[in-house]
Amino acid sequence: MLYRLARSAIFKLDAEKAHDLAIQNFSRFTGTPLDLFYRQHVPDRPVEVMGITFKNPVGLAAGLDKNGECIEAFGAMGFGFVEVGTVTPRPQPGNDKPRLFRVIPAEGIINRFGFNNLGVDNLIENVKKANYDGVIGINIGKNKDTPIEKGAEDYLICMEKVYPYAGYITVNISSPNTPGLRTLQYGEMLDDLLSQLKEKQKQLAEKHGKYVPLTLKIAPDLEDHEIKQIAESLIKNKIDGVIATNTTLDRSLVKDMPHCDEAGGLSGRPLQNRSTEVIRMLAEELDGALPIIGVGGIDSAVSAREKMAAGASLVQIYSGFIYHGPKLVKDIVTNI
Ligand SMILES: Cc1cc2nc3c(=O)[nH]c(=O)nc-3n(C[C@H](O)[C@H](O)[C@H](O)COP(=O)(O)O)c2cc1C
Repeated sequence: MLYRLARSAIFKLDAEKAHDLAIQNFSRFTGTPLDLFYRQHVPDRPVEVMGITFKNPVGLAAGLDKNGECIEAFGAMGFGFVEVGTVTPRPQPGNDKPRLFRVIPAEGIINRFGFNNLGVDNLIENVKKANYDGVIGINIGKNKDTPIEKGAEDYLICMEKVYPYAGYITVNISSPNTPGLRTLQYGEMLDDLLSQLKEKQKQLAEKHGKYVPLTLKIAPDLEDHEIKQIAESLIKNKIDGVIATNTTLDRSLVKDMPHCDEAGGLSGRPLQNRSTEVIRMLAEELDGALPIIGVGGIDSAVSAREKMAAGASLVQIYSGFIYHGPKLVKDIVTNI
């Protein structure tokens, strides 16, 4: 009820302004009595995935807290894990505004942010400060002006820096808003990237005396044979988990709706079925070799259960959270 009222005010604002305001307030309210606006009790539903215990299987998807500024606030809402980022080695402004649009009749969002973030060093300082007893995933990417052939270097730089502070590390090669990025999902480029990351993980595990799992985040816009190839590469390179999926370029379910022709990635309800399909296909190919984190259009406990029935061990939400607020976290954790 409270969120429905707040939402009608928030949705009157420009989408990115509303987003910035929410992040500012979350970080300002943390630890003060004002956090009662979003603090809630959710039941414990511990699960072990990738050798880590998650207090419940519902996480915040990457991109909402790009710089790790309000990890505690999301913890207070009951998220079992929070994925911060995508972060790049150097700070970068992202694409020109406007770059965030609501597709309200579809409960969808289109974004073309382009990894706007304050850089990996800033993120680490925020993660160090966060007083949160859940799992923090750190999602890493490449700077826009790093040529794609040198993309692996950016991931390795970020990995080295975040390793001591991350519960797990996500390698994001599936954003549609960084030119060329998605080419890293295919064939030799992928194999080459994953083997370098795995080698780095081995070195860092030894150096720090702890093993931090690596996950790969993939797009929904892949042919069946491409999903199969990715699964093979994940198994071959002993990657610890896969996150399916990022946003889609497909607009078929939002045709003629407001903002449907904006460039960028579409998320939310129109992505729900496609991401579940990708999870199902991956689950078949992986046959339990590594776990799947399911994300895309989850807007209820039932749609979260669908992701799990398709093969996901954990789920994440972003757009559903924007449309339904913190109550969605509680609904899913309670009924999963
Ligand atoms: C505004 C916005 C920004 C996003 N930024 C990132 C990002 O920086 N890195 C990333 O891996 N995914 C990013 N995503 C994708 C989400 O993490 C998620 O994979 C996708 O939105 C599907 O989930 P949903 O339908 O619950 O939103 C972003 C999504 C949105 C809507």
